[in-house]
Amino acid sequence: MGQFDLIMLGPPGAGKGTQAANVVSDYGVPHISTGDMLRDAVKNQTPMGMEAKRYMEAGDLVPDSVVIGIVKDRLQQPDTAKGFLLDGFPRTIPQAEALDAALGGIGRSVGKVVAILVDEEALVARLTGRRICRTCQAPFHVSFNPPKTVDVCDRCGGELYQRADDSEATVRNRLEVYRAQTEPLIEYYDKQGVVARVDGDQSPDKVYAEIKAAIGPAA
Ligand code: AP5
Ligand code: MG
Ligand code: ZN
Repeated sequence: MGQFDLIMLGPPGAGKGTQAANVVSDYGVPHISTGDMLRDAVKNQTPMGMEAKRYMEAGDLVPDSVVIGIVKDRLQQPDTAKGFLLDGFPRTIPQAEALDAALGGIGRSVGKVVAILVDEEALVARLTGRRICRTCQAPFHVSFNPPKTVDVCDRCGGELYQRADDSEATVRNRLEVYRAQTEPLIEYYDKQGVVARVDGDQSPDKVYAEIKAAIGPAA
């Protein structure tokens, strides 16, 4: 059980969101992005969003208690029964332990952790040139993955914008936070034997081919 209980792990800009879109359409599992959920809460000025905002703008992690709560709630939705794709969660050891405990409680466990690895300088260029759809959150890039029409989403026609945390200074802090708090999760999941390392420094199609091979055929 839990073969399609998937995690997309990797530094900021590795291509988690880009590849998640492929996985959810081929495997039919819901895309659960804590970054997207938090940005939504900020936009709607919910109490949680108002608390999360300052951490996100600085490129720091939102406190574990907040993020663990939203993921646990989300995993109770019926659409996760056959699996899910977590993007941007877990990001700390306590988050990983909370996830293991929640899944263990329903007889499931993490099926695969796809770790997308990319060289640090490439990440800065990717993030500072990124544009996101306001409506469907699809990521584009001004030079590496340009939309057909400038600032318009190919997928839904929505308007593209630049994320508040994609300035160079904030990107550097996010990369540091990743190294200190999130990278150790690769070793944590290696102990469970579920990590697939993928070379993220190639075209999106080639990256996805490696991911598909790692996950295996859809059910
Ligand atoms: P989150 O939204 O998760 O951001 P992130 O982890 O920093 O990752 P990104 O979304 O920036 O990158 P990505 O890997 O999705 O790359 P993408 O596909 O867009 O989190 C944001 C903030 O929310 C955090 O800083 C934190 O404050 C908070 N937060 C979220 N989750 C949390 C948690 N669990 N705990 C605590 N706090 C949390 O691609 C990037 C760019 O590269 C795009 O322009 C894309 O077009 C381009 N690109 C993609 N693939 C390729 C390729 N193969 N070649 C060339 N370009 C490519
Ligand atoms: Mg993302
Ligand atoms: Zn869109």
